[in-house]
Amino acid sequence: MNRLNGKLAIVTGIGSGIGKGCALRFLAEGAQVLGCDLNAQAAQASVEEARSAGHVLHSLHPCDLTNPADVDALVAAALRELGGIDILVNAAAWGAFEFIEQMDYQRQWKATLAGEIDVVFLACKAVWPHMKARGGGAIVNFASANAYEALAGSGALAHCAGKGAVLAMTRQLAMEGGPHGIRANTISPALVVTGATQPRLDHEPGFRETVLSKMMIQRLGTPDDIAWCATYLASDEAGWVTAADFKLDGGATAW
Ligand SMILES: NC(=O)c1ccc[n+]([C@@H]2O[C@H](COP(=O)([O-])OP(=O)(O)OC[C@H]3O[C@@H](n4cnc5c(N)ncnc54)[C@H](O)[C@@H]3O)[C@@H](O)[C@H]2O)c1
Repeated sequence: MNRLNGKLAIVTGIGSGIGKGCALRFLAEGAQVLGCDLNAQAAQASVEEARSAGHVLHSLHPCDLTNPADVDALVAAALRELGGIDILVNAAAWGAFEFIEQMDYQRQWKATLAGEIDVVFLACKAVWPHMKARGGGAIVNFASANAYEALAGSGALAHCAGKGAVLAMTRQLAMEGGPHGIRANTISPALVVTGATQPRLDHEPGFRETVLSKMMIQRLGTPDDIAWCATYLASDEAGWVTAADFKLDGGATAW
């Protein structure tokens, strides 16, 4: 408890899965949190869930992080509601899962790059001067096991490009942030059960078995598995950790 006492955090994508898990864990660890989501109803449900656990989860919703004006509004809300920004967790993302032969250029390929890369760039750029002014901060981005390897039978071309980009750009952010005390790290999960993955697990024959066949620990990930690592990376415990990537994947990419 209290590993994030007094920290001021923005967590994106609080309406589902990993973003929601990080927001609730950060609150339990003593942080003040402003979340956001494109899906207003889902974000509001997370706000209510936090309230019933005795916490205040601030939220700006709907907020589309592919839109620079919405990102600016998010940062303004953080300054207004929290009084500053120490932590940015970029959990919100959207990607189309399709094989190359079926992938549409604008609606799937370009939209995935915006939904996975632009959202990270815009949020990092918007918080940067405020973290710099406070003498530092911690950014946690999400790459993926897909940044390292292809998963047999899974149409994930644009997603692999998006997550490879987040992995690479986070190293660069770490280098640029070093002199300002801004740390930037990635978490690369294998399959975590969330709103994004549940439909594929439910409806794609053999998908769960293929995913599990790669794992040394024979279970799928949970948002809490990821939130514990994000807590560490966002905290002062990780004061010498930057440009690192944490593979949280049950051993899937280590064969
Ligand atoms: N779940 C997995 O197996 C897995 C594996 C590797 C990496 N990741 C990454 O972890 C992160 C979280 O994934 P998840 O599975 O929890 O996703 P999710 O789809 O369950 O939740 C993402 C949330 O972000 C919101 N969102 C999407 N685009 C947005 C936008 N432009 N503006 C504002 N909100 C937006 C969605 O409405 C949703 O509530 C993503 O970056 C994802 O790529 C997930």
